[in-house]
Amino acid sequence: MKLFKTLLAVSVGAAMAVSSVASAKTTIGFSQIGAESEWRTANTNDVKAAAEKHNVDLKFSDAQQKQENQIKAIRTFIAQKVDLIGFVPIVATGWDNILREAKRAKIPVLIMDRDLTVSDDSLYVAKIGTDSYTEGQKVFAWLDDYITKNNIKPRDGGDKINLVILEGTVGSSAATGRAHGFDDALKASPNKDKYNILASQTGDFTRQKGQEVMESFIKSYRDKIDVLFAHNDDMALGAIQSIEAAGLKPSKDIIIVSVDGVKGIFQAMIDGKANATVECNPLQGELFFETAEKILKGESVPKSVFVEEGVYTADQAAEVFPSRKY
Ligand code: AHR
Repeated sequence: MKLFKTLLAVSVGAAMAVSSVASAKTTIGFSQIGAESEWRTANTNDVKAAAEKHNVDLKFSDAQQKQENQIKAIRTFIAQKVDLIGFVPIVATGWDNILREAKRAKIPVLIMDRDLTVSDDSLYVAKIGTDSYTEGQKVFAWLDDYITKNNIKPRDGGDKINLVILEGTVGSSAATGRAHGFDDALKASPNKDKYNILASQTGDFTRQKGQEVMESFIKSYRDKIDVLFAHNDDMALGAIQSIEAAGLKPSKDIIIVSVDGVKGIFQAMIDGKANATVECNPLQGELFFETAEKILKGESVPKSVFVEEGVYTADQAAEVFPSRKY
């Protein structure tokens, strides 16, 4: 009987050991920028949901808009010996040292959403996310087409369509990519002489700063501004409040085009307060964890993978709105 009990204990113990090995979770450390926009919240929710679906032990850290907090979080993930580190680089530069630490610890790094610039590309395995440069190009393409097709004339009676631009976080690839994409498309356009940029200033991707900076643009150029290009929807939504407060009609007096495609801007388009949004897709969690699994299995992955992104205009907004996921 004693022998039977011992055998039973040994076999139960062995079974438990096997099952705990079988269910050992992959641990991934993920450093998110913060919660500056509706888009970012959707991105965070998607990452957390995908981590659960993939049965990953996710160590999530919110950097509250500070690069130094991201560096600290990555250093903590290294100390915790996580299997893989993921992060969204708030700005493009300043990552070499911490990524060298991760490399020395043999922890693979997978970048999400924004791009970074490092001296040695082997410091990270891959980047999955969005293509800000193309987004900027799409903004100009939509705008030029709209102005031409609708024969829009400058409000000040001059010969140039006057633009103001609300830029994203200074030094972020999302802001520089969108700015360069837009500028290059403008310079390459046969209509380039039709446009004049009155002012361009950062609104840090937030609604509040978008509102404040737009207010100051209106103070300086109230009767001149024909177009607002906002690097994200949240800043456009803030700007709409300033435009209305100044007694102007958003989308009519001032044409509004922004980037992201969040529900808030769809509602504004339905309400006749915005004209178009170029999608920047925050639903990157599935692709992130699929890619992470491949990396951890030793499979090769492409250096950059972009998610799909469309362009949506006010006349499609009501039809498309119910199917929007963020
Ligand atoms: O990096 C993506 C950008 O960051 C989104 O356009 C913006 O809303 C977010 O804060």
